[in-house]
Amino acid sequence: MCHSTVDDSAASGIGARLDGHPNRTLDPGLIISLSPHFDDKADLRSQLASWGPGFYDPYWNHDGISAPVLIPPAYGLRDVALETYTGEGPVSYWNAYVAVTQMGGQGTFVSEELGIDIQNDPDLVTPKLPALREYQFTLMPPEADPTSYDGVAALRGELLFTTTAGCVGCHSGTGFTDAPTLHTAAEVGQSPAYAERGTTGMYRATPLRGVSSHPPYFHDGSAGTLDEVVAHYDAQFTLGLSVTDKADLVAYLSSL
Ligand code: HEC
Repeated sequence: MCHSTVDDSAASGIGARLDGHPNRTLDPGLIISLSPHFDDKADLRSQLASWGPGFYDPYWNHDGISAPVLIPPAYGLRDVALETYTGEGPVSYWNAYVAVTQMGGQGTFVSEELGIDIQNDPDLVTPKLPALREYQFTLMPPEADPTSYDGVAALRGELLFTTTAGCVGCHSGTGFTDAPTLHTAAEVGQSPAYAERGTTGMYRATPLRGVSSHPPYFHDGSAGTLDEVVAHYDAQFTLGLSVTDKADLVAYLSSL
């Protein structure tokens, strides 16, 4: 539900399923808030209802902090060493985490760091993780629509990306990420709040293939558009990019 959408081929919201795409219209917090479990817990119900479509907080149910993140794509992860914004672990680590601690699957998830010790016998989750991972690795990011950006500007943008703008220092290789290396919030100009709740305390350079198809950006959705992303980096790294440079970088990002 969270990591798929439809191609709208029959009508808006109705069509063939597109697995791996982040669902930007689903409102998981609101759905969970409707459970009778929250009938006598008005505070918790209103926290859940405040998250909004496309956001989810995977730590809320055990650390009690309500600060949701954008649901990320689940495609394009074959060449990416670590899943999740904070690089907690590979695909199967997070799939186990979500299945057992969020969706109530009958399985086992133990983490001393997170203070979680859920063990079930029989464990119906762990044996399914390898096949689930293999399926996820077949999910490719959407191809960029060549009519949606200026190809010549994109070529200039690629040169900036790989040289003066320094993006390739972190967004490198086929996955456009230097994971398993992680970055501090201060290094990339992000709020440390979410990273501090997980096990790494840092952020992973987000894979960028298909990026233009799923605004907004950054783990908390703080950049609404790719223009805002580039403006963020221009300020963060004092790049001194011209108006044309910024447009060129956006064109390049739109081509990925
Ligand atoms: C020092 C490492 C580093 C550099 C340099 C860097 N990035 Fe990033 N990038 C990150 C990290 C870490 C994130 C995740 C931040 C978050 O989610 O809060 C990120 C996120 C992004 C995103 C958001 C993707 C999404 O789906 O939310 C885009 C787009 C992006 N970077 C583009 C760029 C561009 C363009 C440049 C060069 C101007 C650049 N980055 C330079 C580390 C870096």
